[in-house]
Amino acid sequence: MSSHGTPIPMTSRPCGPLKGAARVPGDKSISHRALILGALCVGETQITGLLEGQDVLDTAKAMRAFGAEVTDHGGGNWSVHGVGVGGFAEPDQVIDCGNSGTGVRLIMGAMATSPITATFTGDASLNGRPMARVTDPLALFGTQAVGRAGGRLPMTLVGAADPVPVEYTVPVPSAQVKSAVLLAGLNAPGKTVVIEAEATRDHTERMLAGFGAEIAVEETEKGRVITLTGQPELTPQKIDVPRDPSSAAFPVCAALIVPGSDVLVPGIGLNPTRAGLYTTLREMGADLTYENERVEGGEPVADLRARFSPDLKGIEVPPERAASMIDEYPVLSVVASFADGQTVMRGVKELRVKESDRIDAMATGLRANGITVDEGPDWWTVTGLGHGNVPGGATCASHLDHRIAMSFLILGMAAQRPVSVDDGGPIATSFPIFEPLMRDLGAHLARSNA
Ligand code: S3P
Repeated sequence: MSSHGTPIPMTSRPCGPLKGAARVPGDKSISHRALILGALCVGETQITGLLEGQDVLDTAKAMRAFGAEVTDHGGGNWSVHGVGVGGFAEPDQVIDCGNSGTGVRLIMGAMATSPITATFTGDASLNGRPMARVTDPLALFGTQAVGRAGGRLPMTLVGAADPVPVEYTVPVPSAQVKSAVLLAGLNAPGKTVVIEAEATRDHTERMLAGFGAEIAVEETEKGRVITLTGQPELTPQKIDVPRDPSSAAFPVCAALIVPGSDVLVPGIGLNPTRAGLYTTLREMGADLTYENERVEGGEPVADLRARFSPDLKGIEVPPERAASMIDEYPVLSVVASFADGQTVMRGVKELRVKESDRIDAMATGLRANGITVDEGPDWWTVTGLGHGNVPGGATCASHLDHRIAMSFLILGMAAQRPVSVDDGGPIATSFPIFEPLMRDLGAHLARSNA
């Protein structure tokens, strides 16, 4: 089992206005997919703006283990010489996906319909997360999986030698599950159909179309019906990865709660299946503006400006918006702490099976910092105290979860007293430049306890 090494305690202190441009790294979801689809395609795929966070580096390493030639040209420029659909080689070592649920679940899908065997593992967080949600539909193709109790990693998959196409209704709103089934469907003859009742991020569908696969998406009464024709000839692509809206959420939310702030995030992805946080923040009264809206590489992109917003109000977040902002609830709960009134978040059961149980992790840490939080199995509420009234002062556990660590550090920027996390190490999985970027804007971040 991998681990990420010695814990890195970090502290964030109240600071003056945050100002400047926040050039956040490339989108994590798109980066994983660019490497995996590049590996499934004969010829050279060129990627610019790849996120060089540990999660994506682990996927790059895994693609090499399956036979692709993956080259880092520096400065976020990468190339992948793929092996073609069905061309994966059998890895001779265990595939270690570190902290990344997206990495392991998508790669399992990508190898599931090739006649090879691979064993997967990860860190303590990933090895505690449910994998049956992926191996159950993969079994329909003929893939076998043997793992630990409860469908946990480490786990070995034996790919189907004679895969059959499947029709599968995804039982939980999960782009990872949808994508695993679509990637498996690539090497099954005939049409694989995936139905999702709630729309989740659609980067896999967009990118498959970009690589030349025959894929149709239909909105029906049952939800989104995605039909993929198997065994296509994929054509190598040039992929320009937009900046990650989920990483942008941290400097944006910090700007909203630190008095006098004015921060611009250039070139962030605004795919509607990802942009729910920004709609929610506007409903709360946030001063957010999109500038220079455009389409780059098949994804909508804009420059996003966030200014200090003194009159934030608690709101009820519509549950049907959950999938489009699922990774942003931790930092939303921080903004909600500075709003007037209660913010209610329902339909968010999935938060309990992320890199940590994110409802539990945030509720415990926010309470320690003087905020009232109520929770149930699939909901939670945060009662905001208004600007200037959040006590802070506590040390919070990050539970090997990058977004929990960053959320509490944002809290410390606008609370009355500093806020610490026991381990900021996991931040490197998705946002390796978080510390220098936030410091350049004016944040007071240090690697030590308060
Ligand atoms: C992701 C899907 C989401 C999200 C994760 C990235 C993806 O997970 O939380 O950070 O890239 O497909 P689920 O599919 O489990 O909802």
